[in-house]
Amino acid sequence: MNNSANNHKFSLTTPLYYVNGVPHVGSAYTTITADAVARFQRLQGKSVLFITGTDEHGQKIQRTATEENVEPQIHCDRIVDSFKSLWDKLNIKYDRFSRTTAPKHQAIVNEFFDRVWQKGDIYLDRQQGWYCVSCEEFKEERELIEDHHCAIHTNKPAEWRDEENYFFRLSQYQQELEELYQSNPDFIQPASRRNEVLNFVKQGLKDFSISRVNLEWGFPIPVDDKHTIYVWFDALLGYVTALLDPEDEPTLDNALSKWWPINLHLIGKDILRFHAVYWPAMLASAGLPLPTKVFGHGFLTKDGLKMGKTLGNTIDPFDLVDRYGADAVRYYFIKEIELGKDGDFNETRFIEVLNNDLANVLGNSLNRTLGMLKKYCQSNAPQLTSADYGGDHPLKSIGMDLGDRIVQMNNNLQFSQGCEEILNLVRSCNKYIDDSAPWTLFKEGKQAEIEQILYAVLESVRLSAYLLSPIIPDISTKIYQQLGFDWNFNTDRYPQTVDDFLIHSQWGKLAIKQTLDKASPVFSRLELSSEA
Ligand code: MSP
Repeated sequence: MNNSANNHKFSLTTPLYYVNGVPHVGSAYTTITADAVARFQRLQGKSVLFITGTDEHGQKIQRTATEENVEPQIHCDRIVDSFKSLWDKLNIKYDRFSRTTAPKHQAIVNEFFDRVWQKGDIYLDRQQGWYCVSCEEFKEERELIEDHHCAIHTNKPAEWRDEENYFFRLSQYQQELEELYQSNPDFIQPASRRNEVLNFVKQGLKDFSISRVNLEWGFPIPVDDKHTIYVWFDALLGYVTALLDPEDEPTLDNALSKWWPINLHLIGKDILRFHAVYWPAMLASAGLPLPTKVFGHGFLTKDGLKMGKTLGNTIDPFDLVDRYGADAVRYYFIKEIELGKDGDFNETRFIEVLNNDLANVLGNSLNRTLGMLKKYCQSNAPQLTSADYGGDHPLKSIGMDLGDRIVQMNNNLQFSQGCEEILNLVRSCNKYIDDSAPWTLFKEGKQAEIEQILYAVLESVRLSAYLLSPIIPDISTKIYQQLGFDWNFNTDRYPQTVDDFLIHSQWGKLAIKQTLDKASPVFSRLELSSEA
C-alpha cells in the first residue's frame, strides 16, 4: 500500500508545532534538520516542497489563550509570528507554512472525514480514560507515573475523562499496518524506533477517539456539531492542506495531485505513534497512498539533563542565534547530534566545536591558502584539474569520491557522519600544507609544485563548502565568493541542476578561473558570552 515517489521531486515536513508557547530549541532542532535535508535535495537538482507550520486547535491552546485572556485566534496569530521570525533568523527556507486554523484546511478535514465515515470506520462510543492535555493524548494506566502524571510532562497530572466520543476503527488496520512495516522496512527510521512501533502494534491496536465534547476550539464533527474534531486528526491533515497552491480549490484531489505522497515526515520520537501508526491507518481508510518515510529523531538534553519547562533548563533559540549566528547553531545541532539519538547541549562544548571545526579547520585552510596564493602566485588561481594529480595524492584520494559518499549519507539522513567526512578532507588540507611546505618550495623556485599544492587545497575547500552548504549556507557562500563564484546559497543565486551537482560535487572537475581576492575570515572565533 506504499507508493514510491517520483525521483525528481522531494516533499518533506516538520511536525506542525503547537502554538501554546514561543518556539523552543526542540522545535528549532527538527526544523534546522529538515531545512538541511531540503537544501541538500535542491542542491542535487530536485524540485522540493518543504512544509512546516503550526497546530493551533485543541484544549492545550484554548487553555493557554484563556490564561492570557485573549481570543484563541489572536493568541495563535502572535505565536505564529514568532515561529516565522525564528525560521527567518535561522535561514530556514520553507516552501509552505501550514496553519490548521486556515479556512481551506477545514474543507480538507471535512472531505477526509467524509471519506473515512463513508468507509464505515467511524462510530460513536463511550471513552473513559486518563487524558494528558500537554500531549493531547489518552494514556494507558501503565504509561503514567505516580499520581497519574504524564511520563513526558512530569509536572502535569493526566485528567480523567468519561464522555461520548466518535472513534476511528484503528483495530481494523492491524494486519495492513503489519504488512506495511514488513514490506517497507525503511518506512520507519531509525531501526530502534521501528522496533518500538512494531512492539506497540504487536500488542494489538485499539480504536482511538477522534472527537472531544465541551471543547470549542476546533472544527465541528461534520455529522454532529456537539463534537469537535480531535486535534491530532485535524493536525495530521495539515500536511495535506499544505500541498494546495494558493489559487487551488481546497479539495483532496487538488491537494494530492502534485506532491503526494510525502517523501519524509521528520518528527521527534514522542510523536512517532501518531505518524507511523495512526496516520497510515487514517490514509488507508480514506483510500490514499502512504508517505514514504517517517524518521523519529531523539530528544535534546542540556548539560546531561532532560530539557524541558519542568526543569526550567530550556534554551531560548532566539538568544542563541543572536549571540552566535545562524550557521553556528545549525552546524552544532547537525554535526554534534547523530540524528535519531538523544543529544546534549553544553555551551562550552558548543563553542569548542565551532571554533575548532569552522574557524581553525575550515576557515584557516582557506585563509592561509589564499594568503600563499597572493604571495606566490600574485593571486592567480592555478588552472589545473584532477587529471593533473596521481590517484594516490593525499587530497585527491579523499576528495574524489567524497561527493558520492555524502549523497549516500545525507540521503540516509546521516548528516553528522557526513560532516565528519567533509571535515576530514579539510583537516587533511592543513596537514598537507604543513607537510609539503610551499614556503620552502618557493625559495627553491619550484613554481609548478606550489601551484599544484595550492590548487589541491583550494579545490578541497571549495568542495567542502559546497557539500556543507545545506548546513552552513552563510559560510559556504563566503567561501565560494572568495573563490571567485558570484553565488549565494541563501538565495536561489546558485546553480541547482542535476548536471551542476555532478560537476560541483566532484573533486577537481572545476577550473577556478578568476583572479582571487584577498582572504577574509569566514567564521570569527566565538567567546563564551556572559549570559551562558
Ligand atoms: N503539534 C504536534 C505535532 C503535530 S504534527 C501533525 C506536536 N507539537 S510540539 O510542538 O509539541 O512538538 C513538535 C516537535 O518538537 C516534536 O517532533 C517533538 O519531538 C519536538 N521536540 C519537543 N521537545 C523536544 C526536545 N527537547 N528535543 C528535541 N525535540 C523535541 O507534537
